[in-house]
Amino acid sequence: MTAIFVTGTGTDVGKTFLSAALIRHWRMAGHAVAAFKPVASGFDPATAQASDPGVLLAALGRPISDIDAISPWRFAAPLSPDMAAAREGRAIGFDSVVEFSRRAAKSADHVLIEGVGGIMVPLDGRHTVLDWMSALRLPVLLVAGSYLGTISHTLTALRVLAQRNLEVVAVAVSESTVPGAPLDETVTTIARFADLIEVVGVRRLSREAHNHPANARIATLIDSSSAIHILRSFPRKREFCRLRWCIGANACFVGISCVS
Ligand SMILES: Nc1ncnc2c1ncn2[C@@H]1O[C@H](COP(=O)(O)OP(=O)(O)OP(=O)(O)O)[C@@H](O)[C@H]1O
Ligand SMILES: [Mg+2]
Repeated sequence: MTAIFVTGTGTDVGKTFLSAALIRHWRMAGHAVAAFKPVASGFDPATAQASDPGVLLAALGRPISDIDAISPWRFAAPLSPDMAAAREGRAIGFDSVVEFSRRAAKSADHVLIEGVGGIMVPLDGRHTVLDWMSALRLPVLLVAGSYLGTISHTLTALRVLAQRNLEVVAVAVSESTVPGAPLDETVTTIARFADLIEVVGVRRLSREAHNHPANARIATLIDSSSAIHILRSFPRKREFCRLRWCIGANACFVGISCVS
């Protein structure tokens, strides 16, 4: 079972484009795939098919009428989710989003959850997407653009993700249309500073190019990380174990309390 959280260095960098490509790749390989965009802002029901949940549903081969099941928190304003929700007199319940995502992550062999905007976009007055990822502790795919400035944005994002001990399975640099350095040089430069995390460049592709080698490589990195993730999660949990001496009035015993 593989579950991945797709986040980005910002908005419009290619999270949905790559998510749809991964969904198609896994489906072509015969896997059961589920995908979610729990929180979406800038949503217009008149153009639902072109929205992020609409694109994910099309890749899943599901009808647009399933939108509530994969994207329950939708807001009209193209703003950060906290602001967009406030415009409608609503608020996003952070715990509900986490609970929804936890259940979603167990719903198929391959599960993909797309975040919203960049890694530190606020969901409410106190929580950002980073808190959402920290609560879920799923492996993360970081998507970046290739525009001028992306190197600093990407390395900053990696540093912040590392501070939360989040596992980044890969950085995908999706080629931007705005001018920047050549994609290959950008990828090489990010990789030089990204420790052991693999950085994959994705050229401007058509939607039909989901089996392009770059997408296949990202899918392989995700698949191989899920096995490593299971192994790694055990020692990580043990770090939080405490050897506890409990001395009662009449008894004394040793206990191990683990907090994951
Ligand atoms: N490698 C690529 N090849 C072709 N088109 C791309 C590529 N990457 C992104 N795009 C296009 O760029 C636009 C923005 O990409 P996308 O919607 O995936 O960004 P996003 O990070 O999901 O944005 P948001 O923050 O709104 O969720 C879309 O029209 C998408 O199809
Ligand atoms: Mg998107």
